[in-house]
Amino acid sequence: MSQPAYPGRFITLEGGEGAGKSTNADYLAQRLEAAGIRLLRTREPGGTALGERIRELLLDTASDGMHADTELLLMFAARAQHIHERILPALRAGAWVLCDRFTDATYAYQGGGRGIDVARIAQLEDWVQQGLQPDMTILFDLPVETGLARAGARGELDRFEREQQAFFEAVRQAYLQRAEREPARFRVVDAGQPLDAVQRQLDTLVDELLAQRTGEGA
Ligand SMILES: Nc1ncnc2c1ncn2[C@@H]1O[C@H](COP(=O)(O)OP(=O)(O)OP(=O)(O)O)[C@@H](O)[C@H]1O
Ligand SMILES: [Mg+2]
Repeated sequence: MSQPAYPGRFITLEGGEGAGKSTNADYLAQRLEAAGIRLLRTREPGGTALGERIRELLLDTASDGMHADTELLLMFAARAQHIHERILPALRAGAWVLCDRFTDATYAYQGGGRGIDVARIAQLEDWVQQGLQPDMTILFDLPVETGLARAGARGELDRFEREQQAFFEAVRQAYLQRAEREPARFRVVDAGQPLDAVQRQLDTLVDELLAQRTGEGA
């Protein structure tokens, strides 16, 4: 991991539907804030007023028929706004950023799930991020059925949640492959366990993050 040009840490949470990203974002934020970290909590797609409008287009079941390329470009359009309006300013001001989904989700869903060539995703990643990468990515991994059962219990399904089992399996495998290829950045959490066991795994990661603290962002 190269030393970033900002004092804070950029942490992203990844994983399939119902893996526990949002639930554990609360837990991680509490732990980090209790340690005196100034934290921007945000999510993708979205994270800005404009990005949240793009999110609505992406998740709306009325967007049926959206071409995979359109979906990919909208993801990166929302991401560009998010990076420039919120993520980079927060990091430059010394805050940490905790983001529920980021570009690994694009590789998993639009790459693994929709079958878009990863080279095309990488082109957009370079173009939009200009080298910006998370310092740590926590992948919440669990069997697809477990995640869908959890997410399904929440009520109405969005455009992605309506996909078939094979789509979600491809998403999971794409995430795991990325984690395998970038072990320095990824931490894989067994998210199929009960919540308290998941949070004990997260405690170890919080300790690791706090040990790397530069002091400036605190
Ligand atoms: N370890 C766990 N054991 C049992 N239930 C859990 C666990 N983690 C989260 N849940 C429950 O599963 C549901 C989905 O969790 P959550 O919304 O945090 O997932 P998510 O990864 O954010 O999903 P999505 O990708 O759809 O946003 C919630 O009702 C949550 O309370
Ligand atoms: Mg969520």
